[in-house]
Amino acid sequence: MIIEEFKKRFGIIGKAKEIRDLIDISIQVAASDISVLIYGESGTGKEIFANAIHAYSKRADKQFLSINCGAIPEGILESELFGHKKGSFTGAVESRKGYFEIADEGTLFLDEIAEMPLTTQVKLLRAIETNEFLKIGAETVTKVDVRIIAATNKDLQHEVEMNRFREDLYFRLKAVTLSIPPLRKRKGDLEELAHYFISNYAAENKIETPILPKDALDYLMSYDWPGNVRELKNTIESAVALNKTGVLDVQSFIPLIRSNNSDHLQRNLPIYVNKSAEELDRELLYRALFEIKKDIMELKDMVYQQHVDVTDNENDGKKDEFMSLQQIEKEAIQKALKQTNGNKRNASKLLKISERTLYRKIKEYDL
Ligand SMILES: Nc1ncnc2c1ncn2[C@@H]1O[C@H](COP(=O)(O)OP(=O)(O)O)[C@@H](O)[C@H]1O
Ligand SMILES: [Mg+2]
Repeated sequence: MIIEEFKKRFGIIGKAKEIRDLIDISIQVAASDISVLIYGESGTGKEIFANAIHAYSKRADKQFLSINCGAIPEGILESELFGHKKGSFTGAVESRKGYFEIADEGTLFLDEIAEMPLTTQVKLLRAIETNEFLKIGAETVTKVDVRIIAATNKDLQHEVEMNRFREDLYFRLKAVTLSIPPLRKRKGDLEELAHYFISNYAAENKIETPILPKDALDYLMSYDWPGNVRELKNTIESAVALNKTGVLDVQSFIPLIRSNNSDHLQRNLPIYVNKSAEELDRELLYRALFEIKKDIMELKDMVYQQHVDVTDNENDGKKDEFMSLQQIEKEAIQKALKQTNGNKRNASKLLKISERTLYRKIKEYDL
């Protein structure tokens, strides 16, 4: 059966109807050059599907290039995508091929497409529609044949309504849409995934495959896996790596699941594993907001104190207050980075700014 073949070939696990339907669509669209849009939370398998579509297409022997649009600074993204000619801007000491050219005849996977700046979106749409683009600083177009697969965890329709995403590009991309459900909505697949990750990891590391008793599986089932399949995989691999007895009991998972949570943000309060992802997210956000609020209060006090200290000159007082806004921002960023152990993606979520803005600010404040 073709679905089973596809699963085996690309290491995709899942009996859930949604997964089977997704594979069905992937098989159908793989043969064409049509753009594909993949929705799903982080860790649900967007990239594994994008890669499978590429590998199942006639482009299989050419490049599959994966680009995270959120992680590349705004000013650089365009030259990364389309390349530039020597001398086209300060610092362009050599001509450089962009991803479009490198992925010629292959597939370009644009992850976190919602983070792409509007001006770059215009150029992307034109490149998709005409199969040609202008390198920065070039006078003649470069022709390419690239298939686009885009992915996001944001609601693009909403982004369009908020004028953060171009409607024409959205329409172009959404013709074929795959929505991968979060793991908590297809827990029926968890057991097979767990066994798959256990035996793979054991085989790769040439160790005996440990047993997963029922109560340990139940424990894994009771958790909501906000980080989805990626989190499950990491948790299982750590458990197998640390295991000495050949039995992955409940105890071997408890510290792993707890500490994964504290990766997001954890201070004094324990986080309970049976909370839903939404509850957990809300709690983490509240806690972050509380911390930031506390900082702001402290800073306000500091500024006020300085203001009192310099009452002989009113302008100086105002200047201090103005400076303190930047200081607050800087401190909030430092705090968020600290609480997320330097994980910029999580920190940007806490701060409710895009990852790229965070990168810019880190640079700006020299953090
Ligand atoms: N259905 C699945 N079967 C097996 N492994 C999966 C499945 N979905 C995701 N994974 C694994 O989980 C990890 C995260 O998947 P990925 O495709 O990178 O997620 P995303 O791009 O949505 O963040 C990868 O190691 C991937 O191989
Ligand atoms: Mg990904």
